Amino acid sequence: MADSGPTLSNLSTESRSFPPSEEFAAQANATEEWYARGDDDREGFWAEQADRLHWHQKWDQVLDWQPPFAKWFVNGKLNVAYNCVDRHVDDGHGEQVAFHWEGEPGDSRTITYADLKSEVSKAANALTELGVQAGDRVAIQLPMIPEAVISMLACARLGAMHSVVFGGFSPGALKARIEDAECKLLITSDGQFRRGKPAPMKENTDEAVKDTPSIEHVLVVKRTETEVPWTEGRDVWWHDVVDRQSDEHEAQAFDAEHPLFILYTSGTTGKPKGILHTSGGYLTQAAYTHHVVFDHKPGESVYWCTADIGWITGHSYIVYGPLANRATSVLYEGTPNTPHEGRHWEIVQKHGVSIYYTAPTLIRTFMKWGKEIPEKYDLSSLKVLGSVGEPINPEAWMWYRENIGHDRCPIVDTWWQTETGAIMIAPLPGVTATKPGSAMRTIPGISAEVVSEEAEPVGPGGGGYLVLDKPWPSMLRGIWGDEERYKDTYWSRFADQGYYFAGDGAKYDDDGAIWLLGRVDDVMNVSGHRISTTEVESALVSHPTVAEAAVVGASDETTGQGIVAFVILRGNAAKDGGEDAIKALRDHVSKEIGPIAKPKKILVVEELPKTRSGKIMRRLLRDVAENRDVGDVSTLADSTVMDLISSGLKDGS
Ligand code: PRX
Repeated sequence: MADSGPTLSNLSTESRSFPPSEEFAAQANATEEWYARGDDDREGFWAEQADRLHWHQKWDQVLDWQPPFAKWFVNGKLNVAYNCVDRHVDDGHGEQVAFHWEGEPGDSRTITYADLKSEVSKAANALTELGVQAGDRVAIQLPMIPEAVISMLACARLGAMHSVVFGGFSPGALKARIEDAECKLLITSDGQFRRGKPAPMKENTDEAVKDTPSIEHVLVVKRTETEVPWTEGRDVWWHDVVDRQSDEHEAQAFDAEHPLFILYTSGTTGKPKGILHTSGGYLTQAAYTHHVVFDHKPGESVYWCTADIGWITGHSYIVYGPLANRATSVLYEGTPNTPHEGRHWEIVQKHGVSIYYTAPTLIRTFMKWGKEIPEKYDLSSLKVLGSVGEPINPEAWMWYRENIGHDRCPIVDTWWQTETGAIMIAPLPGVTATKPGSAMRTIPGISAEVVSEEAEPVGPGGGGYLVLDKPWPSMLRGIWGDEERYKDTYWSRFADQGYYFAGDGAKYDDDGAIWLLGRVDDVMNVSGHRISTTEVESALVSHPTVAEAAVVGASDETTGQGIVAFVILRGNAAKDGGEDAIKALRDHVSKEIGPIAKPKKILVVEELPKTRSGKIMRRLLRDVAENRDVGDVSTLADSTVMDLISSGLKDGS
């Protein structure tokens, strides 16, 4: 298995640098001077960015910081959906396209800002009829169809929080999220298209809400026209309830700190964290970053973020940031190779996409498919290329630059997290020189440090932990229902300094550019998706044949990391731990959490390496999974365990 991720050694040899072209710089949205402005008067800088939005009532204090609790734009009032939709129509841009939607089977829809206003208003009226009020929680599990965006905006309009759950999560995972937030309504669809064929959706969501007393209604969008089970009184069709509503709806203003959404993400324990974001600061930073990092020009740019709305990237860079900036976006329902491997480039050509934002795992997949594929299409409309979700290796970065950007488009590698809400570290196109594999520096208004174990700044050339040393507008406001976990997870590691601990390793090169090195905790990053090792371990041990399990993320050429599990089987199962048993376990994890968590490899072992205090040493298992010599075993309770594992492995891939 080749090591595709950047490491301290391969990064220190990277010396290529690409300064911005004069032509790009001359028209860029930001200038070098913004960095100093962001540092010299941080609050004033953010107040200027907040002025991009329409405020029903202006704030009277930019920041109230009672570490680790922040309030931004105190006493300001706004409506997020009004900012994303109505004001553009009021400003005379109702006919501008908000979304060019491309369905997987080849159907398409064009949605203008005027259409969006009318659809969101109708949906808000329908939600009100179904009993949804400000402060309520609404779960959404939908494919990438316009109703997904409309549902999110309808919630925002009413001041109800959405909790979007990625379609690839199992009924059990959806249920856990619905229960944690006590959602009142679930919005879903009859089915979804997957690689050209209808696949079930409502059967799964029905299983999730079988006994969730908080759910009063399930609102169902018709997408695949498949027959679905129906619970009278609870289930309602979108076309029955939404279509007949008035397209007038007065958007009420909410406090800047009014909750906007909850989005669950994996932490180091088995239980996902409900990350809470609020309104004014979040929208300010989502809009500002979309403007400067992508050099977005309203009415001119055609923007495409390929993420799913089930992830934070979809929230901030398909829905909120772009719409606040009056973007014309592509929204694509399907997979990148349906019906052929040139689908993305065909869409870029069709709509004249100028800004394309995707993940390294997909770039590496395109590399595998070959440069002949993008070569068949006209990609001359592209101006800026973005990357997000995991460290991008220099080879993938260069391939992206040469074969998609034709050496012309700046690449913006953007580092951020569900918790940060919006981009934090990225070059600014037209301003910052870029290096293949580096996210370069914090954007204006944001401050970060790389520090040692003892919280000392490491300085140029040094490596350590990435921390955020100043509050930022789109920072998470907590973990839903668990204040202690919020403090413990992010603020206890460097409590004395008051730093936010991001959980990522990073280094500075000699020029002071930042290179992200991946997670330093027990969180894996598979195709840009965060999955916790403990979550997969819990799923494995819930299977009757498994006595014990340990899971690690091992480097993978395409997906960044792949899930490798080591399991000890029980009595009889241990005797025939053959391929069938391993397949059953992989399927079991997929059923428990979702297909994204399915281990790539399961290895049956007789022992697991543990310290004297009983902690599994994943580091050693990672050595085995990545075919390396096993490192220092002196802290193991029984140092012969690793020999046993290495000699007795039954490869179950
Ligand atoms: O490890 C970092 C990695 O993804 C984590 C955040 O995952 P999530 O909350 O799911 O959000 C992903 C999309 C913003 C981070 O802790 N990560 C994200 N972007 C990058 C990255 N690692 C390196 N470079 C990036 N550009």
